[in-house]
Amino acid sequence: DTLIELSETMPKTELHLHIEGTFEPEQMFAIAQRNQVKLKYDTVDALKAAYQFTNLQDFLDLYYQGMSVLLHEADFYDLTMAYLEKVHSENVVHVEIFFDPQGHLSRDIPFDVQIKGIYNALQDAQLKWGMTSKLIMSFLRHLSEESAFETLEHAKPFLNWIDGVGLDSSELGHPPEKFLRVFEACKNLGLKVTAHAGEEGPPDYVWQAINQIGVDRIDHGNRALEDVKLIEEIKKRDLTLTVCPLSNLKLCVVNDMKDHPIKHMLKLGLHATVNSDDPAYFGGYMNDNYASLIRRTGINKEELLQLAKNGITGSWMKNTTKEKHL
Ligand code: ADE
Ligand code: ZN
Repeated sequence: DTLIELSETMPKTELHLHIEGTFEPEQMFAIAQRNQVKLKYDTVDALKAAYQFTNLQDFLDLYYQGMSVLLHEADFYDLTMAYLEKVHSENVVHVEIFFDPQGHLSRDIPFDVQIKGIYNALQDAQLKWGMTSKLIMSFLRHLSEESAFETLEHAKPFLNWIDGVGLDSSELGHPPEKFLRVFEACKNLGLKVTAHAGEEGPPDYVWQAINQIGVDRIDHGNRALEDVKLIEEIKKRDLTLTVCPLSNLKLCVVNDMKDHPIKHMLKLGLHATVNSDDPAYFGGYMNDNYASLIRRTGINKEELLQLAKNGITGSWMKNTTKEKHL
């Protein structure tokens, strides 16, 4: 249908994407083999069959297992380039991607090995297709504040390659305020700041992300809808929500795509965007996320275009300030 076609052909941005979450089973097995590491699953099909999650933690357990076959700079390059090729074919023109350095440092993979592989792929995509990008270093919130500070030290020689910092992994029990001082240090270094908040965690965690951390954007934010005052605050501050429809479905943040709140978010005047989070695990990249919303929630053409425009104004590209709302 014509809306689906429009969603596929229109230029898009992706603002919420974990590069380790783009690790397709086929590529995972290929890299495991070339690195002579053994996966817990014997076949691609056995691995795919395990992709049944009832909550965030179920997924994270497999996500950390999957990334453990990444050892060399070429592995990080190949992972990133495969993702960029895929979304280039979907008319994504700008990406802001997360990586989880602690998921690799904990396995003794040096920071420079990780970031060189990822950054070189981003540079090559810009040279080849003019695709622009930002790189966001994300802290794992189930680890300590001290570990986050150590990670920031590893990052310091590469700050010209890093545009911002984020906060991800197990949300419940790990509120944003746990990392207050780390984010303060990051802001003093001129980094942009975002945080996963309100995916599984309560509205209070979104308040903390805004009032204590001072985020420039909110990743997910679904549960902010439970608090009318919070909705007003997000609007007042013009904060973009990086919403991830297929992720929400797979991790049971929503029970059915037809009940996904993104249409409601737009009606409330919130700057919602569409993103794929961990597409290799959640069953779809950017165009699949749009298609699912169009088929199941009945978003109309105006809403579709608004979501795409929000992806531009909510990005960290220069000259897309909120004053210039499209
Ligand atoms: N790490 C990768 N994807 C994530 C998500 N959706 N929420 C929290 N941590 C993550
Ligand atoms: Zn995420």
